[in-house]
Amino acid sequence: MDKKHIFITGGTSGIGLSLAEAYLKEGHHVGICGRDLSKIPAYMKDQYPFMHVYELDINDRKKVNETIVNFSKGRLDLVIANAGIASFKGHDIPDFDNVFKVINTNVLGVMSTIEASLKVMLPNKKGHLVVISSVAGEIGLPRVGQYSASKAAVTKYCEALAIDLKKYNIVVTTILPGFIDTPLTRVNKHYMPFLMSSEKATKLIKKSIDNKAIRYVFPRRMKWLVYILSIMPRRLYRTLMGLVASRLT
Ligand SMILES: NC(=O)c1ccc[n+]([C@@H]2O[C@H](COP(=O)([O-])OP(=O)(O)OC[C@H]3O[C@@H](n4cnc5c(N)ncnc54)[C@H](OP(=O)(O)O)[C@@H]3O)[C@@H](O)[C@H]2O)c1
Repeated sequence: MDKKHIFITGGTSGIGLSLAEAYLKEGHHVGICGRDLSKIPAYMKDQYPFMHVYELDINDRKKVNETIVNFSKGRLDLVIANAGIASFKGHDIPDFDNVFKVINTNVLGVMSTIEASLKVMLPNKKGHLVVISSVAGEIGLPRVGQYSASKAAVTKYCEALAIDLKKYNIVVTTILPGFIDTPLTRVNKHYMPFLMSSEKATKLIKKSIDNKAIRYVFPRRMKWLVYILSIMPRRLYRTLMGLVASRLT
């Protein structure tokens, strides 16, 4: 079997961890990173000899570059820029410390990951970059404008990058999930429409990556809801989402 070299940022919990396990089960070399490695279930270290674990904050551009290049050993088939944070504070006055943290991690952290990946993929003229964005980037969500802005930025960046990198045989896939049941959303007290299990989401994401999709938005009902919200008259959107926001605590 051809063992691929796959690196996943934010593989210590949630979607990243589930994706890592799915690829490890297939026998690939999988590199995962995070700031808190103690979150990785102990059994995985014994069960998967091809799992490579790195303590890494993706806000550290230099270290992200070093880690991904070192992991690759000259071969990098797939990189999934998954690490991200969200924060629902339930308040309409922005907390700018949080705004900068979200933008730095979700946007610049992804850029550092792509920068590092291209150091290996461009000379090899081969590779697959995947970015886990969000449907939240398709609309401006009240109270979490920084999260929406961060995901909109990476979605648009990937849309452009996919065109630029095509001639170098590098595929770019953008994944836009709706609500998935992970530690990130478990803290939410508000209603999460069409919430999907992490297991089901992992299967769908992996299938779209295996198919080298350009863009994958799911669950389907969330895709349509967000589409309608994104094209409706802005005045109506404001009124509707204003009502939603007023019900949030
Ligand atoms: N769950 C959802 O409903 C949903 C929906 C749409 C999009 N997404 C996106 O999916 C991705 C994964 O989220 P999740 O739901 O799986 O959340 P999660 O369980 O909280 O996982 C987030 C992962 O990112 C890592 N991470 C966060 N900040 C990091 C940093 N500065 N450096 C390195 N690693 C960092 C975390 O590791 P450490 O804490 O160990 O650093 C963790 O492994 C995120 O980009 C999120 O925005 C999630």
